[in-house]
Amino acid sequence: MKEKNRIETRNRLEASRNGGGEDRIEKQHNSGKLTARERIEVFLDSGTFQELDAMVTHRCTDFGMQDRKTPGDGVVTGWGEVNGRRVFLYSQDFTVEGGSLSATNAAKICKIMEMAIKAGAPLIGLNDSGGARIQEGVASLGGYADIFLRNTMASGVVPQISAILGPCAGGAVYSPALTDFIFMADGTSYMFVTGPNVVKTVTHEEVSQEELGGAQTHAAKSGVAHFRCRDDRHTLEEIRKLLSYLPANNLESAPVVENSDPIDRADPALSDIIPDNREKPYDMHEILRKVVDRDSLFEVQPEYARNIITAFARMDGQTVGIVANQPSVLAGCLDIQASVKAARFVRFLDCFNIPILTFVDVPGFMPGTDQEWNGIITHGAKLLYAYCEATVPKLTVITRKAYGGAYDVMSSKHIRGDLNFAWPSAEIAVMGAKGAVEILFRKEISASDNPTQVAEDRTQEYEDLFANPFTAAERGYVDAVIEEPETRQRLIEGLRLLAGKRDSNPPKKHGNEPL
Ligand code: HXC
Repeated sequence: MKEKNRIETRNRLEASRNGGGEDRIEKQHNSGKLTARERIEVFLDSGTFQELDAMVTHRCTDFGMQDRKTPGDGVVTGWGEVNGRRVFLYSQDFTVEGGSLSATNAAKICKIMEMAIKAGAPLIGLNDSGGARIQEGVASLGGYADIFLRNTMASGVVPQISAILGPCAGGAVYSPALTDFIFMADGTSYMFVTGPNVVKTVTHEEVSQEELGGAQTHAAKSGVAHFRCRDDRHTLEEIRKLLSYLPANNLESAPVVENSDPIDRADPALSDIIPDNREKPYDMHEILRKVVDRDSLFEVQPEYARNIITAFARMDGQTVGIVANQPSVLAGCLDIQASVKAARFVRFLDCFNIPILTFVDVPGFMPGTDQEWNGIITHGAKLLYAYCEATVPKLTVITRKAYGGAYDVMSSKHIRGDLNFAWPSAEIAVMGAKGAVEILFRKEISASDNPTQVAEDRTQEYEDLFANPFTAAERGYVDAVIEEPETRQRLIEGLRLLAGKRDSNPPKKHGNEPL
């Protein structure tokens, strides 16, 4: 009996490993994709995968499904290690019923989600699925809802990362959307709530699958995807990289890596980056790369809302999250997209105990009917709320402009910035000189015999008063005016000082952020 069961065990596991069979595996490879198991092999440290529920089968008997059973039922689940740190994962197997989600398949995913929450380890979903298992009807829809609930419960407890490595359509998109980061592979993945055919019927728009919901679309247009990668392998490597910056759960700190970049490296080139002409752009990346540990800058959503930069980096080996205005795109203005992008990132950092470094060069919120009618008021408030609420260490460097409401928003002292530095080139004011003079001295200028001269004099007066960091420094709104090359050392010393920071918000069920 024992021997018979031993053979049966091997047979079942073999069947599970074979998935949908050779032909479908070949089709998967021909379409430029790895199989569910190959992905796990590439993703995890070698030999660390521990599979669960390999023998689970569906229970559907409609449409002849009783004769179509594959052990594992189209999803491979379990845990393993990434750089020696535990993670839980599921990998949908498109070769089995198109990776479609049955009730039992959903139960497998829910099981590891719950284990990830209890064990306090990140959850990774490798998605490649035709969506709800059509033969199972509402049982499948219920399965999705079970997953959505657990995504929500896990949010802020363990990092959740979704890779889209094939189709992800209909309500299925909402599990990835509830997770912290979405990766997409170029050319082989797509996400949409309704596909091109439905779009054509309802709105008469003709659009390809790729254009509607491919990786490029979601990385650059919608902002749904945080990372766009070349293919399956590249995606899996990039997820491993992201994990290296993250703690395993909300009660831990991010891992500290060995750092060989001197903490007192004072790059004199930093003093030459800000142009003499305040209207001239420069690339904020240049500053960031010179300040953080060498080669540690890892940008999130690099193609979306490029007027603000969100990135992970390391300072003396410690993970930090960076939010930085980008003067070379839309002059670094805060618009709807930039506000939402940065707000979500700030909230992630605060969930997972990652200090926030904010680099400020912002002329204000973006003006215009498009912005107002689409709700810049509400969306801008998201970023303000996120910064106000965050209790992790918050360090700020004002490199140039900090104008208007955007000055307040960008981690100012007033909203619990812990250490706020300004460069000598900082200008902290309600608005730029030109706009201010037009409002304050309109009558005087128009009544004058020499309006140009009066405007110039008044502009000079305004600039002398406000185009510098000193008024703010006199009031203690910036803690120190620092020379540019000192920035790295001052920030690292600040991070050390704040390593044990304790701060909290009043007890409440949850706040009512401006969604
Ligand atoms: C059951 C499915 C399936 C599904 C695919 N298959 N999707 N089986 N339920 N949802 C099966 C196919 O019958 C086929 O089986 C195998 O998977 C591979 O599918 P193909 O069509 O041959 O592959 P391909 O040509 O690559 O096309 C992939 C596809 C297409 C674009 C995903 O399969 C498709 O349109 N599927 C249906 C998508 C869909 O409408 N799903 C429901 C969405 S609504 P064989 O045996 O021939 O290999 C939804 C609601 C979620 O998901 C709600 C949550 C709240």
